[in-house]
Amino acid sequence: MSTEKPRPLIAGNWKMNGLRASQSVLDGIREGYTAAVAKKVDVLVCPPTTLLHAFAVQAAGSGLYIGAQDCHTKASGAYTGDISAEMIQDSGGQYVILGHSERRQYHGETDALVNEKTVAAHRAGLTAVVCIGETREERESGKAIAVVKSQLKGSVPAGSTAQNLVIAYEPVWAIGTGLTPTVADVAEVHAAIREDLIALVGKDDQYLVRILYGGSVKPSNAAELLGTANVDGALVGGASLVAKDFLAIVAAVA
Ligand code: 13P
Repeated sequence: MSTEKPRPLIAGNWKMNGLRASQSVLDGIREGYTAAVAKKVDVLVCPPTTLLHAFAVQAAGSGLYIGAQDCHTKASGAYTGDISAEMIQDSGGQYVILGHSERRQYHGETDALVNEKTVAAHRAGLTAVVCIGETREERESGKAIAVVKSQLKGSVPAGSTAQNLVIAYEPVWAIGTGLTPTVADVAEVHAAIREDLIALVGKDDQYLVRILYGGSVKPSNAAELLGTANVDGALVGGASLVAKDFLAIVAAVA
């Protein structure tokens, strides 16, 4: 077992929000991401694809990472409306969120597809942020751990490493609702993910893969969630759209 701890990562998922005027938000994040903060924590911003290249240019030299929210499995081809991992890389993105519950829910994405997309991300040199998490019904019927374990196994391909894989545990019922699991529940799920990572990335990387918590993370609850065992950062939706709030969550890591 490695005694090294992963470097924390705070990631902002802007979802389908943001116009060119939102570059001012990235300016604000950049301003707050000082050398002292950067020493302690990685910060990733995932805007809509329309802003990806502009954000990558704007973030150059700041140490901030920029990423996308989805990609196709193929590098190119007749897939109207889709974008490939190679295009994300070409636009200056370094990360891609995959298998978000909104993609699973509204676009019917399965573990097998998320797995293929993760392979594509790795092919293009991107780090995949693979999202997993149970629904309210699954939690209430005591199936949360089993669901998360099964999604993890199905969604993470061979060849994943602590460098090219981040896991985000996002209980579906906590996303955008203001509800969060108890710290004990978060700790239980993250420990289960950590345990199962050995089969996916091997024992050298098992403890180095970042496991993020996502779902209604706010400045007011960030310190408690981020202080939980095996929580190596956060995937933040709504609060990442406001520089001051996002930076307060980043500050909660320190
Ligand atoms: P909220 O932080 O708005 O609950 O969204 C979480 C999320 O889905 C991040 O990917």
